[in-house]
This record gives sequence, C-alpha cells and structure tokens, in this order.
Amino acid sequence: MYKTLMLAIFVLLAVVRPGASATLTPKEELGKLLFFDTHLSKEKNQSCATCHQPPGFADPLNAAMPQTEVVSRGSVGGLFGVRNSPTVAYAAFSPHFHWDREEGLFIGGQFWDGREPTLKGQAKGPFLNPLEMTMSHGGAVVESCRYPGNQLSKRYIELFRQVYGVELAEANLEDRIIASAFYDMTADAIAAYEKTWEVSPFSSKYDYVQAGKATFTPQESLGLKLFNGKGLCNKCHISKPGKSPGGGMIPPLFTDFTYDNLGIPRSMNPVLAKAPVDLGLGGRPDIAAIDPKGLQKGKFKVPTLRNIGLTAPYGHNGYFATLTEIVEFYNTAGVRGRWPKPEVPQNVNREEMGNLKLTKKEVAAIVAFMHTLSDGYGKPLSGIVLPPFP
Ligand code: HEC
Ligand code: HEC
Repeated sequence: MYKTLMLAIFVLLAVVRPGASATLTPKEELGKLLFFDTHLSKEKNQSCATCHQPPGFADPLNAAMPQTEVVSRGSVGGLFGVRNSPTVAYAAFSPHFHWDREEGLFIGGQFWDGREPTLKGQAKGPFLNPLEMTMSHGGAVVESCRYPGNQLSKRYIELFRQVYGVELAEANLEDRIIASAFYDMTADAIAAYEKTWEVSPFSSKYDYVQAGKATFTPQESLGLKLFNGKGLCNKCHISKPGKSPGGGMIPPLFTDFTYDNLGIPRSMNPVLAKAPVDLGLGGRPDIAAIDPKGLQKGKFKVPTLRNIGLTAPYGHNGYFATLTEIVEFYNTAGVRGRWPKPEVPQNVNREEMGNLKLTKKEVAAIVAFMHTLSDGYGKPLSGIVLPPFP
C-alpha cells in the first residue's frame, strides 16, 4: 500500500516539472519559482504546488486516493488541513469579496469561505499556516529564498533586483519592516503568476468545441443539455461567457462566485470526524458579527468546474469521492432517508437541487460533460484574451 502510494506520488510529480517559461514576465517567473519551491516550508518538503499541482492545480495525492485522502497533509508529518484543497486555476477571476446590493448576496474572495479578499493577501497565508508549510514568519520565507543551500537563490537575487529594484542578498531581514516588505513582494509575484495563462489556460475540450475545433460525443452533448436544463447546474455554475472589466469576453468559468449551503453531510473521514462543525461563510467572525440570524451559516463558495475531472474528492470536506457520487447527491439530496443529515441544517438550498429525477444514464452524461472541462486537450487557443483581473 505504502509503495503504491509513493509510486503514485512519484509518477504525478514526474509528469509536471516546474521551469521558467519563455512567455512569462520576470515578475511572473519569480512567482512561479516561489510557487514550486519546496525550500520555503518547515521541512523543505512542501511548496504551493504540492497541494496545487498542475494541470488540475489541486492536491494530486487526494485525487489519487479520494476515498481516504480527503484533505492535504502538512509539511510537518501527521498534520492535516481542515478543508479539501481547491484548484488554484481560474481563482484569479474571483472578484474581491463584497456584498452585492442588487443581488443581496456575498460574492467573491479566496478560500471556500472567501475570508481572504485578494489573491495577493491569500498568498501570504499558506507559508505561515501551521497545518500547511509551517514557517515561523515572513522573514523566514524570504531567508529561505536567499539561503545558499537553495539552488534557486542566485536566480531569486537577480529577479528581486530586476522586478522590485531591491538587493535580496544584502537585506537586513532581522528588521521587521524590511522583512515584511520583502514578504509582500513574494506574495505580489505569486499573485502575478496565478494570473497567467499557465494557471488559467482555457485549453479544455469544451473550449475547443466552442472554437469549432472539436466535437462532443453524443453523451457529452446530452450532459451539457442536462447541465443547463433538467440538472439546474448552470444556476450556480454559470455556463455562459462573462464580461471582463475591460469589456472583453471571458469564456465560461462555471461559477458565479456566490455562496450556498448544499447540505453536504459531515465527513466520516478519521481526520475530519472530530473537527468542529464547519459553518463556512457564516462561521467567519466578521460575517457572524453582521449576520445575527445566521443566514450565511453552512454556505461555501461555488467552485469553478474547470478541471473538475482532475481534482477529486469533491465538496469543501471532500465528502464525495467521485463525480458520479456528487451528481447523485444533487439528484436525490432532498429524498428522505437517502443521505445522512446535512452538517449545517440551516439555509440548505432545496429550490435548485435535491429532487431532480435524473436517470442513471443522465447522471453519467453530466459526468461525461464535466470531464470535457479538463485543461490540456490541446494548446491554449488563440483569440482568448485574459482580462485585467480584479
Ligand atoms: C498543505 C496544502 C496546501 C498548501 C501547501 C497550499 N495550499 Fe492553497 N489551499 C489549500 C486548502 C486546503 C485551501 C482551502 C482552504 C479554505 O478554504 O479554508 C487552499 C486554498 C487556496 C486558494 C483559494 C482558491 C479558491 O478558489 O478559493 C489559493 C489561491 C491558494 N490556495 C493558493 C496557494 C498558494 C499561493 C500557496 C503557496 C504559498 C498554497 N496555496 C499552498 C491547501 C494548500
Ligand atoms: C444552488 C447552487 C448550485 C447548483 C444548482 C449546483 N451547484 Fe455544484 N456546487 C455549488 C456549491 C456552493 C458547491 C460547493 C459546496 C460545498 O463544498 O459545500 C458546489 C460544488 C460542486 C462540485 C464539487 C467541486 C469541488 O471542487 O469540490 C461539483 C462537481 C459540482 N458542484 C457540480 C454540480 C453539478 C453537476 C450540478 C447540477 C447537477 C450542480 N453542481 C449544481 C453550488 C451549486
């Protein structure tokens, strides 16, 4: 078992090798090097990419064993995260977290509960998270960039000079203000990388079909029809193109970045079974303070479905090991006795899901359609322009 596990990890790591790409700007290249650098964790064994590995940009170990590995392991052995690692691909499109007056809804932000308004702010979290990369402080992350044992140190020194006009090798990182300014630059560069084509390539079969360069199988076509029809999936996983702030067209992202409680049951996984109830958006102290009725309890951000075939298991707690299981849940969640009770009973959405009456064949078609959303069907298509990001 252990051997198979190690082999699986090795194979997965071997497929995708980091390396500077000719098409990246120096800032994006710096961000990419930081994103893939395992030196920047306590045990020098974990990078952002460990939990966000291309092409799915989620945790490959979870995807390989979705029945048992539902949350990521930390840099320090025996520690685990509390939620399933989502994809980082297309995260750059999430608007800054805000209350939308017209819709009367919270929208956007990073993480399942949107608690970090921006990508740059998000990028400072994982290095210091005790359940993730476990570094003691920002200065320690910067120190690990220039530490001579890090084979990238020379390149980092060049890139910090080129991009930010600063001398990494000579910086006094004992000085908190200097250390924090450098740490800020690392987050800025990582966010810049997360906004590139490499992370949001729009290169799936779905995109090829839209461009007239491929055709769906009859099953995939049926799946798309059901996705937008009987399945009601497009009510939240929007399948229409969006508009960019600059006026350009953004291919569908399969999310509206709003929040909903699907009524997912509590995880029985030993790592999560004893965790406190996860209230999602409504569990954030800042939201709880302005939400006395608890209307946001149990709500989690609608995730993109791009690359969904590569990022098992599913749901914020990884409750569903396969796509078939989660679609079956949408199909029958409201049917008495079919599923264990929701972890958070308030605010469960029963209008747009729960008793869809999809047949087995229809469930399979929706799953087949979702598999067309995996990037890497071909090269990124020309003609799609990435917008100015939020
Ligand atoms: C140990 C695994 C792990 C590591 C290492 C890790 N992440 Fe994550 N990442 C997660 C988990 C789990 C979440 C969701 C947490 C939550 O919602 O509370 C997440 C969420 C995110 C999100 C939000 C995506 C969205 O759609 O809301 C981004 C962006 C992200 N991570 C980027 C990074 C970056 C950049 C790094 C490196 C600095 C990193 N992650 C390192 C596990 C990890
Ligand atoms: C009412 C809004 C809504 C509708 C309708 C909806 N979804 Fe979702 N979907 C969500 C939310 C919110 C989540 C995250 C919930 C959580 O983890 O607690 C989610 C999660 C998912 C996930 C798991 C994503 C991941 O990264 O783990 C898949 C797959 C999915 N939905 C597919 C579908 C399909 C297929 C349909 C139609 C049968 C559908 N959804 C209908 C809101 C919706």
